[in-house]
Amino acid sequence: MKRIRIADLFTQKPIGEVVNVKGWVRTKRGNKQVAFIALNDGTTIKNIQVVVDLATADEEQMKTITTGACLSVVGELVASQGGGQEIEIQCKEIEVYGTADPQTYPLQKKGHSMEYLREVAHLRPRTNTFGAVFRIRHNMAMAIHNFFHERGFYYFHTPLITASDCEGAGQMFQVTTMNLYDLKKDENGSIIYDNDFFGRQASLTVSGQLEAELAAMALGAVYTFGPTFRAENSNTPRHLAEFWMIEPEVAFNEIEDNMELAEDFIKYCVRWALDNCADDLQFLNDMFDKELLTRLRSVIDVEFKRLTYTEGISILEEAVAKGKKFEFPVFWGADLAAEHERYLVEEYFKRPVILTDYPKEIKSFYMKQNDDGKTVRAMDILFPKIGEIIGGSQREESYEKLAKRANEMGVPEKDIWWYLDTRRFGTAPHSGFGLGFERLLLFVTGMSNIRDVIPFPRTPRNAEF
Ligand code: 4AD
Ligand code: MG
Repeated sequence: MKRIRIADLFTQKPIGEVVNVKGWVRTKRGNKQVAFIALNDGTTIKNIQVVVDLATADEEQMKTITTGACLSVVGELVASQGGGQEIEIQCKEIEVYGTADPQTYPLQKKGHSMEYLREVAHLRPRTNTFGAVFRIRHNMAMAIHNFFHERGFYYFHTPLITASDCEGAGQMFQVTTMNLYDLKKDENGSIIYDNDFFGRQASLTVSGQLEAELAAMALGAVYTFGPTFRAENSNTPRHLAEFWMIEPEVAFNEIEDNMELAEDFIKYCVRWALDNCADDLQFLNDMFDKELLTRLRSVIDVEFKRLTYTEGISILEEAVAKGKKFEFPVFWGADLAAEHERYLVEEYFKRPVILTDYPKEIKSFYMKQNDDGKTVRAMDILFPKIGEIIGGSQREESYEKLAKRANEMGVPEKDIWWYLDTRRFGTAPHSGFGLGFERLLLFVTGMSNIRDVIPFPRTPRNAEF
């Protein structure tokens, strides 16, 4: 007999038919006459209730059916007699694929803490919350590919192993096959990489941007979507050492086009979630964050507020003058902390904010320099509850200006000669940005810790599973 997915059972409702479902037991309850088994197969947040008549059931088998066990059930689908569910299965036959010892199965009771569930990340997809989060994660990936495909962008694959530091922030994980117990060094004590796998120092990439720019200078509009790695020692609810990033890069786009693309892109993704993940979002809204659905809807309706970094700093300085307390100081030239970003978004403008034209000192070497000599054509998108969700810019297209700035910022020309070549041969104005996939998921799911929107989080001192 062919198995039917529980999600399909709920949409098709073949009442009166004998069906076969397979899944994991969420709960079993009942009395002396009947047992009620809530079964879930991951296709939907909804459980199907299996009703077992204990007069005809195998008593020994029933004992082995406990929370976490995996079953195949055959029975007739009927309109439910009890409240709480529309349909249920009158059980005719059960096969137990795998038992789960109640003494040792880690997901016994409902309402485990998120901290505890991180310790059992290998099993947490079986909870309602993580089932919902990972289904939404999949849907967001589909939304992203659809958005760009519909607009004629090409999905371009950039390398994960690289010899250049795109962001120039020195937060790279090294990749080596050298024997760490026996490193060869020169007279200055520097490691000699000649005999290493790549014959030079290599690392995991922090961003696919530089290679995406090469592609944009040929294919016009491209995007990357892959894992990136940052060895920043920040133990915050918004940082991961391994996260996924989406980076579109578009020839002939100026900063305004870039802002429009980014705003359309985020709104498309949020709308996609509302259209395609209604059950899961409703669950998360009810369980964790009563404002979630309202916040998602409000973002697709409003126009993001655009202002310059300089204007943003003035607003923050005014707030401080009026008695607002921030942990980190506010002054022109300071990098904004999440508390500053969230003040602008949540308290001042009450909508997403696009901040542009940051001081060049706090931004990367590749950003287009403004005529004032002080700022660059950067744009960060700041979101409620998240702070920075997107970072991007128009790129410096002048070979001279770019080479000079790279040199000033300690990015060696020998590492990026190929990047500089795009400015020597057929350079063009172009722009792009990076969206942190898990930051988007934080926003869409309403989860409060980034460790809970990626299946197996990598953070300082944590690489289990
Ligand atoms: O602002 P960032 O560092 O920009 C870049 O990497 C550019 N190369 C992007 C581009 O222009 N193509 O990072 C982009 C986004 C941030 O806005 C944030 O959403 C996310 O990536 N991000 C992180 N997400 C999780 N954990 C971290 N450690 C992150 N660092 C950045
Ligand atoms: Mg940034």
